[in-house]
Amino acid sequence: MKALVWHGKEDIRCDTVTDPEIQDPRDAIIKVTSCAICGSDLHLFHNFIPGMLPGDIMGHETMGEVVEVGSGMDGKLKKGDRIVVPFTIICGECDQCKRGNFSVCETTNRKRHLADKAFGHTTAGLFGYTHLTGGYPGGQAEYLRVPFADATHIKVPDGIPDEQLLFLSDIFPTGWQAAAQCDIVPTDTVAIWGCGPVGQMAIRSAILLGANQVIAIDRLPERLSMAEAGGATTINFETESVVDRLNELTDGRGPEKCIDCAGMEAHVMASQPDTVLDRAKQMVMLESDRPHVLREMIYVCRPGGIISVAGVYSGFSDKMPMGAFMNKGLTMRTGQTHVNRWTDDLLRRIEEGEIDPSFVITHTVPLEMGPEMYKVFRDKRDSCVKVVLKP
Ligand SMILES: NC(=O)c1ccc[n+]([C@@H]2O[C@H](COP(=O)([O-])OP(=O)(O)OC[C@H]3O[C@@H](n4cnc5c(N)ncnc54)[C@H](O)[C@@H]3O)[C@@H](O)[C@H]2O)c1
Ligand SMILES: [Zn+2]
Ligand SMILES: [Zn+2]
Repeated sequence: MKALVWHGKEDIRCDTVTDPEIQDPRDAIIKVTSCAICGSDLHLFHNFIPGMLPGDIMGHETMGEVVEVGSGMDGKLKKGDRIVVPFTIICGECDQCKRGNFSVCETTNRKRHLADKAFGHTTAGLFGYTHLTGGYPGGQAEYLRVPFADATHIKVPDGIPDEQLLFLSDIFPTGWQAAAQCDIVPTDTVAIWGCGPVGQMAIRSAILLGANQVIAIDRLPERLSMAEAGGATTINFETESVVDRLNELTDGRGPEKCIDCAGMEAHVMASQPDTVLDRAKQMVMLESDRPHVLREMIYVCRPGGIISVAGVYSGFSDKMPMGAFMNKGLTMRTGQTHVNRWTDDLLRRIEEGEIDPSFVITHTVPLEMGPEMYKVFRDKRDSCVKVVLKP
C-alpha cells in the first residue's frame, strides 16, 4: 500500500510499504477513506520530538471502513462498519480508561519503558507519533491497523460526509476539551492563542459553551478572518501588543480563561526577544520547547483564572514565570485529548447541525501529494489552514 513515511528531519515521502495485517485478536484493519495533517505532525516533521525512526508511518487523524477484524472483537466492531479512529489508542479497561482519562491509558503503550523514563509514568499509545508512545504505524496511508479496536473507535453513521466527521479523531475534541477544562461561566472572557485548526475548534467550542467574549490571537490574516467568522474578536500579535489589547478588552482585568492552541513552536520574532533566545537554545539542545505563549498567558491572565494548554510541549521549557503563576493563584490544565470522553456528545452536535467542523478545510488532495502538503501547511502557503488527504 501507499503511505506517508518519515525518513528524517523535513523528509516525508509517499512510499510503497507492506499492507498491515491482524496481529492480535483485538485488532481491526480499516481501508482509509480520509486522513489529515495535524499541527502535531509538524513537530515530528521538524524532528523536535524525539523517538521517530526512519520508516515510521505518519498520521493520527484517520477514518475509513472496517475490512477485517480479529477474533476478539466481541461483536463491538464488524466488517463494513464506518469508523473514525481516535488518535489515542485505548484499552477501555484500565483504571485511567474507566475514569475517562483515555490519553493516559495505562496499557496501550507497548514501549512503555521509554515513556516511564521520559515522563515518570507511561501515557497512552498514539498512532504515528514516535516510539515514546508505542511506535504504532499511523493512518496517513491506504490501510491502518487499529489495535485495541474494540475500544479504539468512534462508530459513525452513513449519510454524513467524511469531511464533517474526520475531525472527531483529534482537533474537534481537542478544541472542545481545551474550552471545557476552562469551566466557562457566562461572564467569562476566553482568550485563545493560535488560530490554526485547533484554535478554530477551541473558538467555536468556547462560544458553544457560553463564553461572554472570545478573543483569538494569531498573525495570519486568513486564520484571523476565520476566527472572526466564528465569533471571536481578534488580535494580530505581529502588529499589536497582545497584553495591552487583552487588558483593554477586559477593562484592565485580563481574561479569566486563557487557552494555548499554539504549542512548543511559538513564532520567532525580534519584538519578542524571548522567542529568539528560545530558538537559539533549542538549536543547541539546551531547551526543547519555545514556551512564549505560556509565559504571556500567565502574565496576562486574570488572578484566580485558568490556563488551559492544548498546544503540545515535548520536554523542558525555560524561564517559566512561576512567581506570577503562584501569586496570582492560577490553575493550569493540560493534556493530550481524552478523545472518546467527548465524541458521543460532539457527534450528536454534528448530526443535529449545531456545528460543521469541515469549515476549517482549505485543501483536499490525493495522498501522494502529502509530502508537498506538509511544506504548504508548515509555511502557511496558499492560505492553508487544514489539509485532508484522500488515499
Ligand atoms: N492536546 C492535544 O491532544 C492536541 C491535539 C492536536 C494538536 N495539538 C497541538 O495544538 C497545537 C496547534 O495545532 P494546529 O493543528 O492548530 O497547528 P498550527 O501550526 O496550524 O497552528 C498553530 C498556530 O499558532 C500560531 N502562533 C504561533 N506563535 C504564536 C503566538 N506567539 N501567539 C499566538 N499564536 C501563535 C501560528 O501562527 C499558527 O496559526 C500544536 O502544538 C499541536 O501539536 C494538541
Ligand atoms: Zn493531532
Ligand atoms: Zn486503558
